[in-house]
Amino acid sequence: MSTPTRPDLDAYWMPFTANRQFKQSPRLLTRADGMYFTDDQGRQILDGVAGLWCVNAGHNRPRIVRAIQEQAAELDFAPPFQMGHPKAFELASRLAGIAPEGMNKVFFTNSGSESVETALKIALAYHRARGEGQRTRLIGRERGYHGVNFGGMSVGGMVANRKMFGTLLAGVDHLRHTHDIVRNAFSVGLPAHGAELADDLERLVALHDASTIAAVIVEPVAGSAGVLIPPQGYLQRLREICDRHGILLIFDEVITGFGRTGQAFAAQTFGVTPDLMTVAKGLTNGCVPMGAVLAQQRIHDAFMTGPDHLIEFFHGYTYSAHPLACAAGLATLDTYAEDGLLTRAAELQGYFAEQLHALRGEPHVIDVRNLGLVGGVELSPRAGEPTRRAFETFLDCWQQGVLIRTTGDILALSPPLIAEREHLDRMIDAIRVALRRLK
Ligand SMILES: Cc1ncc(COP(=O)(O)O)c(C=O)c1O
Repeated sequence: MSTPTRPDLDAYWMPFTANRQFKQSPRLLTRADGMYFTDDQGRQILDGVAGLWCVNAGHNRPRIVRAIQEQAAELDFAPPFQMGHPKAFELASRLAGIAPEGMNKVFFTNSGSESVETALKIALAYHRARGEGQRTRLIGRERGYHGVNFGGMSVGGMVANRKMFGTLLAGVDHLRHTHDIVRNAFSVGLPAHGAELADDLERLVALHDASTIAAVIVEPVAGSAGVLIPPQGYLQRLREICDRHGILLIFDEVITGFGRTGQAFAAQTFGVTPDLMTVAKGLTNGCVPMGAVLAQQRIHDAFMTGPDHLIEFFHGYTYSAHPLACAAGLATLDTYAEDGLLTRAAELQGYFAEQLHALRGEPHVIDVRNLGLVGGVELSPRAGEPTRRAFETFLDCWQQGVLIRTTGDILALSPPLIAEREHLDRMIDAIRVALRRLK
């Protein structure tokens, strides 16, 4: 096959990318179908990460493609302020139908980052609407990732994402992270040790007083910081402490939503219901940007006071509930239901865990972690060159025709939920081969 001419790569400043390395050695994707991308050299690349934790139903699903095409021709845009269109209401109802108990109000955004900002603003405004406007403090967690906008960065806990950007939001504090490789290395599923780390919230309550704290936001499973699985009982304990002190609990389910952990949402997998929940990514199978915040009825109702011609919540985006996104979302939920994908990770996780944990003992591997169809492999960093080992593994897998993700010196897998055992085998084999030739 002849190599097509590449576009000029100069103008595009790429996000979260080593731009200079990329432009010297580009990785350009031109098509996608099912479990595979095709690159501009015509190579098939097995997708080990559902694009970016979002293409849960696999690529190029005909029902979703058709829905987007038809929607563009029928209603390309509808203003979302003081106006609506039917699919926005339909999608909100359908989401409420699969959400954890009582989370039946849906506010649409365009990304995970916007969902986080929206949830934080709802939390602050909720307390104020109830006459507890002094609850302004937001609590995140070390190693948390909540997107890249100022609120999300502030409650987030990844140093590289924070250190360049000044003082961030005032009045934010952080729980300790739950990663404990000494006690929990190579745990299969939920680690046994660390539920007591939720008590760190009591420390912050003692420091700041509960009456100043609006909300705690955590990812049920931290993805971007390196696949950190919560210790057994940790999320339950966090819920209890929040309840005791009138603090809202926000689950950021941007990556755990839509079947990743074996049920529709991690809240259901863990049996812990938050007050607010952020989603994005798998909501439209990654086909059209969209996010949402799901809220408990009582939170929504606290806003519904005053004269009924007045706007209750001064927040929203031009593209909230965009018709193309709603059409994609509805078709995505149909596809998940038809193919049983929201629970497929539960069926595959035993096999996935077994194969993934077989990487224990391979060069440089210091931990393997898993839950549902999320896998993490932590490498010891090369002396003086943190992150390089993982990045070289990523490049080697790419050469082998397998797409994985890395963060720090951690490799992450989050395959589309349509994966078959042989796909999982191939992803893990590629990592094994790469590790064996890595310095
Ligand atoms: C838990 C979590 N929250 C928020 C985000 C941000 O989402 P987006 O990149 O769509 O803004 C991500 C993205 O990976 C995420 O993993």
